[in-house]
This record gives sequence, structure tokens and C-alpha cells, in this order.
Amino acid sequence: HNWASNSMREALSQDLTGCLFSFILPLLPTAEEYAIKEQTRLLLEKLIDRVSPGARLIAFGSMANGFALRNSDMDLQCILDPASEPLSSSELTTIVGDLIRHETNFHVKPLPKARIPIIKLTLSPTPALPYGIACDIGFGGQLALENTRLLLGYASVDPPRLRTLVLFIKVWSKRRKINSAYRGTLSSYGFTLLVIFFLAHVKQPPVLPNLQRIPPLRPVSPESASYEGRNIYFFDDVALLRQEWSSANRQSVGELLWEFFRFYAKDFNYTHDVISIRTEGGILSKDAKGWVQDLEVDGASEFARDRNRLCIEDPFDTSYNVARTVTADGLYTIRGEFMRASRMLQTVGKTDVLPSQVLVD
Ligand code: GTP
Ligand code: MG
Repeated sequence: HNWASNSMREALSQDLTGCLFSFILPLLPTAEEYAIKEQTRLLLEKLIDRVSPGARLIAFGSMANGFALRNSDMDLQCILDPASEPLSSSELTTIVGDLIRHETNFHVKPLPKARIPIIKLTLSPTPALPYGIACDIGFGGQLALENTRLLLGYASVDPPRLRTLVLFIKVWSKRRKINSAYRGTLSSYGFTLLVIFFLAHVKQPPVLPNLQRIPPLRPVSPESASYEGRNIYFFDDVALLRQEWSSANRQSVGELLWEFFRFYAKDFNYTHDVISIRTEGGILSKDAKGWVQDLEVDGASEFARDRNRLCIEDPFDTSYNVARTVTADGLYTIRGEFMRASRMLQTVGKTDVLPSQVLVD
């Protein structure tokens, strides 16, 4: 009986795997979309060069980390030439914002007072660009570029499994309306870290290695391994990893997806645990980090918000909770969605559940 149900399960999850691949494929960006975005990046870089000569605009986030979906927004980071005249990030935000408004058709919204000052740009849809373009230019530090490289490293180790899972979870979380840091739920970056944690630390044998714990082949100088006092080392020889890393875990994407939902629906300890993909076991306690679950009251507005409901430590900026935006309500909704999805996938085979049905009402 067990043998029969195991092989049945396997066959069904193979089906689900096939469905997942064909579901994701048409959602990937086209070569044309990449080309248009690259032209846009060059145009904006030229404009910024007028304000701060030698400045570069570097793509990060989904357009650079291997997890892009069609028409996703473009994240750009402005890196100044060290020899240029120093301008503060918020000054730059304002000056560059005015210039882009003057010289292009972009709708421009500078946010000079944000934790990391950014300019939000949008281009309305046209027949040639039916979805328009949304682009953020950030003037913060280099860490966003480094965590983009880390994610790209993971994406390259086991592309069929990690990329498929992350892309599906991104589509799913957007359609289920739980992918919005501004509305009390979790960013794509946060969901991606949930998937990496699951594959590198929860699954035994692991599907992914811990890139931050693989020792370097050659000694690394302290300067190159740290940025503003943070340890940013990880094993980044992707070509070598692809040759050498072979996971003893042979589970299919379909099976892993179902287990992913079940784990976050039932097994993860939201009250006590902090996800920390850089550490040995992948988990720290909220107590040990001093990440207390409480209400933070904003003195100016007397607006109170939940803190540390869901805790995901940034892989490099370890004092930073990537899930800080998740409110008590938001977490309740997210967990409800994990339960719903895991319930639906459990019935795969009994009914004809397709991945797309997990997305809709
Ligand atoms: P979509 O825009 O939804 O396609 O996903 P994305 O992969 O671009 O992810 P997201 O927009 O959430 O984040 C883009 C990049 O910003 C990430 O790859 C990170 O480099 C950085 N980032 C996003 N959120 C945070 C955060 O809370 N902390 C830090 N340090 N970096 C973040
Ligand atoms: Mg993005």
C-alpha cells in the first residue's frame, strides 16, 4: 500500500512539475523587454552623469538576480564616482529627479527622506510598451547590489528547482495580494529568502548549499569581505559550484512546492524563530536577536504598528528584519494563504488541480 501511494505521489508530483514549468515559461521577460530596459538604464545613466560625472547606474533586484517575471519593475542603484564632488543622497534625489522630469516623459516622484532615498519613475503604457515601465533609482549603499549577487549565486546552483519555485511563489503571492511591503505583507525579496531557507536548511538532504558558509578557495582580504562593517563574503564562483555541487536530494519541483506550502502552513515556528540563511542551522531565536514582538508607536503620528511578527534576517545586514513590514493582520493573511495552497495541492490527483488554480479564488 505504501509503495503504491508513494509511487502515485511521485507520479502526481511529476505532473505538477510539468505544469509548473509550462505555467512559468510564458511569464518570463522577453529578450525585447531586456533590451528596452537596458536602453532605459543607459539613458538615465547619461542624465545622471550630467549631475555627478562618472556616476553609474547598476541594475539590481529581479532584473539582475535571475528571478524576473515579465513586466516587473526595474531596480537601479546609483554608484557615484569616488572622485566626484560629494553630494548627499537626498540632494541628489531632488536634483536628478528634476532633471529626469525635464528631459524625459517619465512621471517622477523623488522620495529624498526615505531610509534609502529613491526616485520613483513611471512611463505610461504605449502601443510599443503595453505595460509601460516602472523604475526605482536608489541612492543607498552597495548592500542591495551584494544581496542581488547572492541571490543570483543561489539561482545559478540549481536553476530548475530554485528559480521555478521562486518565480511561482512570486506570481502566487502577487495574485493572492500578499506581496506588498506597503500593505503590511512581504516583499518579493522576503519570499525569495523563505524559499532559500526552505531548500538550504529545512530540506534534508538540502537542495542548496549555504553559500555564506563555503570557505573561499583563496584567502579573501578583509576589505573585500566587508562593507560598512558587515561581512559580505559568500562563495561566488558559480561556474565551479555548478560543476561540483550535486544535491543528494532528488525531489521534484512539484513535490517541493507542496512541502514548501505545508512547512509554512504548519511547521515553522513564527512566534520564536528568526530565519537566518547565513547561519549553520538557518534559525536564530527572536530572544537572542532582541527582536521583540511588540507595537512600535510613531511619536509624530501616534500611529502604532506591529513589529517583528515575522522575522527574516537580511543575509548581510544582520540587524535588519526584511519582514519588518509584516503586520499581525498581514501575517494572519499570509499564513491563511499558505494553508489554502497546501490544502489545494494535497488534493492534486484526486481533483484536477493545476498550479494556476492555486492562484485564483
Ligand atoms: P519584483 O520587483 O517583485 O519583481 O521582485 P524583486 O526580485 O525585484 O524584489 P524586490 O523588489 O522585493 O527587491 C529588489 C531588491 O531590493 C532585492 O533583490 C534586494 O536587493 C533589495 N531589497 C528589497 N527589499 C529589501 C529589504 O527589505 N532590505 C534590503 N536590504 N534590501 C532589499
Ligand atoms: Mg523589483
